[in-house]
Amino acid sequence: MNLSEKIASRSAVVGVIGLGYVGLPLLAAFHRAGFSVIGFDVDPKKITALRKGENYLQHLGQTLVSDMLAAGRFDVTADFARLADADAILICVPTPLGKHLEPDLSYVERTASDISKTLRPGQLIVLESTTYPRTTRDIVLPRLVETGLKCGQDFFLAFSPERENPGSKDFSTTTIPKLVGGIDRASGEIAVALYGQAIDKVIPVSSAEVAEAAKLLENIYRAVNIALVNEMKVVLGAMDIDVWEVIDAAKTKPFGFQAFYPGPGLGGHCIPIDPYYLTWKAREVGMTTRFIELAGEINHRMPQYVVDKLSLALNARGKSVNGSSILVLGLAYKPDVDDVRESPSFELIEKLSDLGAKVDYNDPHVPATHRMRKYGDLGMKSVALTPESLSGYDAVLISTNHKAYDWQQVVDHAKLIIDTRGATRKVTGRRDHIVMA
Ligand SMILES: NC(=O)c1ccc[n+]([C@@H]2O[C@H](COP(=O)([O-])OP(=O)(O)OC[C@H]3O[C@@H](n4cnc5c(N)ncnc54)[C@H](O)[C@@H]3O)[C@@H](O)[C@H]2O)c1
Repeated sequence: MNLSEKIASRSAVVGVIGLGYVGLPLLAAFHRAGFSVIGFDVDPKKITALRKGENYLQHLGQTLVSDMLAAGRFDVTADFARLADADAILICVPTPLGKHLEPDLSYVERTASDISKTLRPGQLIVLESTTYPRTTRDIVLPRLVETGLKCGQDFFLAFSPERENPGSKDFSTTTIPKLVGGIDRASGEIAVALYGQAIDKVIPVSSAEVAEAAKLLENIYRAVNIALVNEMKVVLGAMDIDVWEVIDAAKTKPFGFQAFYPGPGLGGHCIPIDPYYLTWKAREVGMTTRFIELAGEINHRMPQYVVDKLSLALNARGKSVNGSSILVLGLAYKPDVDDVRESPSFELIEKLSDLGAKVDYNDPHVPATHRMRKYGDLGMKSVALTPESLSGYDAVLISTNHKAYDWQQVVDHAKLIIDTRGATRKVTGRRDHIVMA
């Protein structure tokens, strides 16, 4: 059977490299479609957990992995020689930034080299990691053709961006439309055929570069619009106008306006990072990306804006940040998830601690801090949230608006509330204890 026939009969073996927020649900989507799947990861803890049927990503549901294990057709390994067993290999490894906001493609490079060691005729390789245009062609392809095999003839190569929205109840890997662009026509066609077996709607585009750039446009669009509402928050705040009410009013317009919301700064693996992939690449063609830089500047300034608001509010109460006790509510970067990557809460904690405050946090989804790329492990544990604990702090800083929080309780008991999310807007009473920031 050739690769097309294996895909059509769902007898192709699908391998996924990188079993994180993107890779694990993708593996599950192909498993649900009836394919045999093999997951690859360099993290031995993940492999051990998955082999026991444990799911380390809360939002995907407790039984996701145990169900796959029970059904069979499911294998995970850290042995990359097994890549030879997969007919299709989907790459979902991290694409972070280096210290100077430059793309760090070392994970993609290493993975491409791993694949090349066992590359064989009849394999389809797809890069899913978010990256700048031409990465698939300039970084992945050369490592694969070194084997002497020909792309579009012996093996196939494409890019298909992941559009995962962890924690969303409205969309899942299967229902989010999937863009697919091949390095050549044959690669595009075969990749479209594969995704068509597992994803409800697949949209072919003319090249890998279009698919790479489309993903960046989507995330830059968010970063720029979030910067816009953050700027509006600062300006309207100075005029004593509630930006959240303004956004609610503006979004009653049934066309031409999409609501974005301000916050304490950008978080997550995508929005604070991906735009800089284009900024970096643009320099190669002598271009500057002014919207992206400006949005980055405004969004990066937000944690300091929040700290300034907090210190002014304490000052008005005859206190300084130095020596005050502050409780940060929410460590995750967005509501109702346990993902803390790039979360502005860490920068807030760092800035306030540097100023001499004693800082604790509460997050129902994050019982303790763990090691992070930028901050190491702060060694903190989520403190209990009770009327007594709330009233014990000089200030309570709302960083993430988890649904689990009872805002009335927070407002009833905290001495001072700094609200960066508009979370307490509907709460009645004690408004003079709340500062919107
Ligand atoms: N998280 C999201 O919501 C999201 C959405 C869209 C796109 N993306 C993109 O998808 C990619 C992956 O992101 P993620 O959020 O899943 O990251 P993640 O950190 O959750 O997962 C990455 C996984 O890859 C593993 N890994 C690292 N190096 C490896 C290697 N050399 N070989 C095999 N495995 C390796 C890690 O152990 C980890 O399990 C990134 O490019 C990201 O920008 C993420």
